[in-house]
Amino acid sequence: MEYEVKGTIYGINGPVVYVSGKTTFKMGEMVYVGEEKLIGEVISLTSEKTTIQVYEETSGLKPHAPVYSTGSAIFVTLAPGILNNIFDGIERPLDNIAKEKGIYITRGVSVDALDTKKKWDTHITVKKGEYLNAGSIIAEVQETNAIVHKCMLPPNVSGLVESVVSDGSYTINDTLLTIKTEQGVVIPVTMTQKWPIRTPRPVNKRFPANKPLITGQRILDSFFPIAKGGTAAIPGGFGTGKTMNQHQIAKWADADIIIYIGCGERGNEMTQVLEDFSKLIDPKSGNPLMDRTTLIANTSNMPVAAREASIYTGITLAEYYRDMGYHVAIMADSTSRWAEALRELSGRLEEMPAEEGFPAYLASRLAGFYERAGYCKTLNENEGSVSIIGAVSPQGGDFSEPVTQSTKRFVRCFWALDKSLAYARHFPAIHWLTSYSDYLLDLTPWYNENCSTDFVSNRNRLLAILNNESSLMEIVKLIGSDVLPDDQKLTLEIARVIRLGYLQQNAFHKDDTCVPLEKQNLMMRTILYLEEKAKSLIALGMPMRILKENDIFEKIIAIKYDIPNDKLEMFDDYTKLIDNWYNDIMNKNA
Ligand SMILES: Nc1ncnc2c1ncn2[C@@H]1O[C@H](COP(=O)(O)OP(=O)(O)OP(=O)(O)O)[C@@H](O)[C@H]1O
Ligand SMILES: [Mg+2]
Repeated sequence: MEYEVKGTIYGINGPVVYVSGKTTFKMGEMVYVGEEKLIGEVISLTSEKTTIQVYEETSGLKPHAPVYSTGSAIFVTLAPGILNNIFDGIERPLDNIAKEKGIYITRGVSVDALDTKKKWDTHITVKKGEYLNAGSIIAEVQETNAIVHKCMLPPNVSGLVESVVSDGSYTINDTLLTIKTEQGVVIPVTMTQKWPIRTPRPVNKRFPANKPLITGQRILDSFFPIAKGGTAAIPGGFGTGKTMNQHQIAKWADADIIIYIGCGERGNEMTQVLEDFSKLIDPKSGNPLMDRTTLIANTSNMPVAAREASIYTGITLAEYYRDMGYHVAIMADSTSRWAEALRELSGRLEEMPAEEGFPAYLASRLAGFYERAGYCKTLNENEGSVSIIGAVSPQGGDFSEPVTQSTKRFVRCFWALDKSLAYARHFPAIHWLTSYSDYLLDLTPWYNENCSTDFVSNRNRLLAILNNESSLMEIVKLIGSDVLPDDQKLTLEIARVIRLGYLQQNAFHKDDTCVPLEKQNLMMRTILYLEEKAKSLIALGMPMRILKENDIFEKIIAIKYDIPNDKLEMFDDYTKLIDNWYNDIMNKNA
């Protein structure tokens, strides 16, 4: 395709390129820079100067090189072929680039975002003469074994179907039907939509978030749950488990689609996701997890501007699948590296820095990202959701820095990772005293209806014991635990059972890695039953020393490994075990 040259380069500063003089570029327009046609975006415009951020390495670029106009905003291509694929920050498929150009991405390669030659078996769902609203589903394609891709009319096209092909094999650029709009214009429609990444896709209506995104992680599901369409942040210092937690959620959450954005993190971690996920089988459908996953990799060695764009690319893909009626979860690892890209670009633009050198618009950009989450009624009257889970990596684990603080204002779940828990190898290192979820109240009716009416109250009782433990520990630190009365010693012991037996969860154990809600509740009940029985023994004057006989506390801690997820009837044996332990002590000491 021929593009018009609308200016020549005047100055270059890292990823930022200037064009001097009056030009006819538009704000936000996608441009090609230099003979190599590097992809860029117009980010500031005056009558004297046009500023462009370039998504690729700019070394070797020279003044007076041409800048081409494309006339459109920076966009992503939306069509079958997105899933089970890996892209860079501006939706260039890394696999295909590697095949065509070798393992290092050369610059300015213009490969198509999606395979344009592949023929997809297409089932057409509309008829000639039908009136279609914007966003209507027109065809279905089995994109992977797990997911049916619903091809839709773009959100700005509606009208009568004038002609339509029959079911068959088509590429993403073949015309499937023509639409005659109310103005009488005939528009050909393919499977493909193009959408500017910085504009949210429209929906019919937003619902309050009142269904949980179930992750199989006990501390999340029962203590600090996130809703479908909700937002959460995982802040944590170096090595505390941000990536691991996101991997766990990506593997086990009951979302239909996962978009994993590796943003400025290590390249080998992305490779690991690829390797891990392609081996893993989705327990619900029996399909490989990659069948419902897309990776966006913008690792630490790739250009910063593309990193800035990567989270918008990710969320646009997510919104597209939401529009089909799917529940999508986005993992962004890490938003701090994204904010650093923003800072670097802002520095090059010589903008006035705010706190810690971040630009003044850091907070509004973060808000713009998290606000695109939600549980919605789509234009075609389906229900779908986008949930966002962003990792934050504050330097030195100090949560008072600007990215963590700004993020905290916009997310409703805060899963705070704790350095000392991670050092003690208590994983997941999410601290129960510093984390919170604002969704708990909204989700309580769901838990009552779909899980059990005691789920939330059990959770509250466990958390209360942990809170008690923390205040008792203040005393223990000063004078030791020996002087505590037995009922307080019991609180410490039960809190230990909760921490080791319930909150600690081993990502590498076949049963413990993902635990169904029913088992979570049975575990909570068993711990509370033990507490109740132990309390009545203490009330009768039995010392803690006697209660610890028979290793009952250790046995309850080991339940997570000893009761497989598909043998939940075994919980009855444990109730009996506690009863026997209680009766034994009573008989012996009567
Ligand atoms: N749930 C878990 N179960 C078992 N081990 C875990 C768990 N979470 C974290 N770990 C351990 O902690 C290590 C570090 O975790 P991870 O790489 O996720 O940290 P991170 O916060 O992403 O670090 P970085 O700041 O370097 O990106 C892992 O290699 C793993 O050994
Ligand atoms: Mg990490």
